[in-house]
Amino acid sequence: MQRRDFIKSVVAGATLVSMGRYNVFSPATVYAGEGNKPYQSRLPVPPILEQGTSAGSKKSPYVFTADYGEQSFWPGTSTETLGYNGNYLGPTIRVTDKEKVRFKIHNKLKEVTTVHWHGLHVPAKWDGGPHQTIQPGETWYPEFQIKQQAATLWYHPHAMGLTGEHVYRGLAGLFIIEDEISSNLPIPKDYGLDDIPLVLQDRRFFDTGEFAYVRSMHDVMHGVRGNYLLVNGMIQPFLEVSRGLTRFRVLNGSNSSIYRLRLSGEKVMAAIASDGGFLEKPVVRKEIILSAGERVEILIDFSQDLAGDKVRLNVDQYGGSSFEAMEFIVTKKSGKYLKIPSFLRAMDRVDETEAENTRLFSMETMSGRGRGMMMGGGRLTINGKKMDMNRIDEIIPLGSTEIWELVNTSSSMMQLPHSMHLHDVQFNILDRNGQPPDPLESGRKDTVFLWPNDKVRIIARFLDYTGIYMYHCHMLEHEDDGMMGQFEVVDRL
Ligand code: C2O
Ligand code: CU
Ligand code: CU
Repeated sequence: MQRRDFIKSVVAGATLVSMGRYNVFSPATVYAGEGNKPYQSRLPVPPILEQGTSAGSKKSPYVFTADYGEQSFWPGTSTETLGYNGNYLGPTIRVTDKEKVRFKIHNKLKEVTTVHWHGLHVPAKWDGGPHQTIQPGETWYPEFQIKQQAATLWYHPHAMGLTGEHVYRGLAGLFIIEDEISSNLPIPKDYGLDDIPLVLQDRRFFDTGEFAYVRSMHDVMHGVRGNYLLVNGMIQPFLEVSRGLTRFRVLNGSNSSIYRLRLSGEKVMAAIASDGGFLEKPVVRKEIILSAGERVEILIDFSQDLAGDKVRLNVDQYGGSSFEAMEFIVTKKSGKYLKIPSFLRAMDRVDETEAENTRLFSMETMSGRGRGMMMGGGRLTINGKKMDMNRIDEIIPLGSTEIWELVNTSSSMMQLPHSMHLHDVQFNILDRNGQPPDPLESGRKDTVFLWPNDKVRIIARFLDYTGIYMYHCHMLEHEDDGMMGQFEVVDRL
């Protein structure tokens, strides 16, 4: 596999049946979705979750429920799905820095689930990782204070071994933090009008219309990929935009795919925020690469386009399909903001000299101990280990700053990209293969991807909370297969 070898165009339906020796699919069982007409339906925007009511003096909780649903992704078909307060995906939770928030989360599924706040800095017991299970029929009541700057985060299930399947079937939502800076910047901020979330997820279907979430050996290694791309749960929607700036909060909500975003006509995108908050200044690009779990906020300037002009968002899947994801249709209306600001926010990058400790993490596609994938066991590991909920892998003193050196240790037999995600913290990338990080990834990050043989050094401060948190590959099939570990933040003696 070549680096950055995105396949430019592949006939729909052909890619997912790549006929690896472990693949359980035959082309006939995979739904090609004929008859879908592109750009006929308006992009759905997940609603903002309003607070429920509560008796007494406590602030009202945000209430949501994980439940079964049914969604028609094509006319005439229906797919069994999962969703929060709806058939597919969940509402957007929008909070402000310093706010104290409470939740009431109900599990109506017949199996265990959790709700993890991806990117959020919260006490370990409210993190929603594999330890904070919500049993079938039960309700979970997390509460915490928001202690971080404006950012586009998200929430999703994290039950041991079930994360990939739950997310694939529809359990995910956005979690937006605002603060003084985000509310004062001259950038679009009317949610659903000029501030639009885009949750990108590739999916494949059986010809019955159901999601084809099956984990063959091939799927575990490469991730369960699809030949259709959903944007906010819809295939090839359109969106009307005014002649001005529109802000998009893009989440790669796929299970394992790496996406490259491009606009038609080589139109540029101005990235203004990475995973954990604003960049110092906009970074203007024709292409942006996002691995599973990563976010980017972009501004697209439609002020020079004419009413009726159409701009397409193309999404290329690394090693897979090339999707015409959606279309923007420019209207006569003039936008509220016409100029991309030159400065966004001063960045508080963690300095390398602050670090008290360095740890090494080797992300292995096969353990180096001769137990190849043919033998079962030991295929996807971090530092040679598979996740064990009863084992703490790293102990970190509260208040310390650490460098984590991440290496994608590829074997000659199989090279895969990986991504590393840490709970609890936002980190900075110190360098990638000895080079300073690309401006796009020089801000706050919680997930970083590694091409085969990449070495990335990240730095983070472990503040405020003690307890057990996860780190893992955010290719969810890798995570579920055990490519995860636990760190415990402990009080200093
Ligand atoms: Cu987005 Cu531990 O996960
Ligand atoms: Cu997370
Ligand atoms: Cu991985």
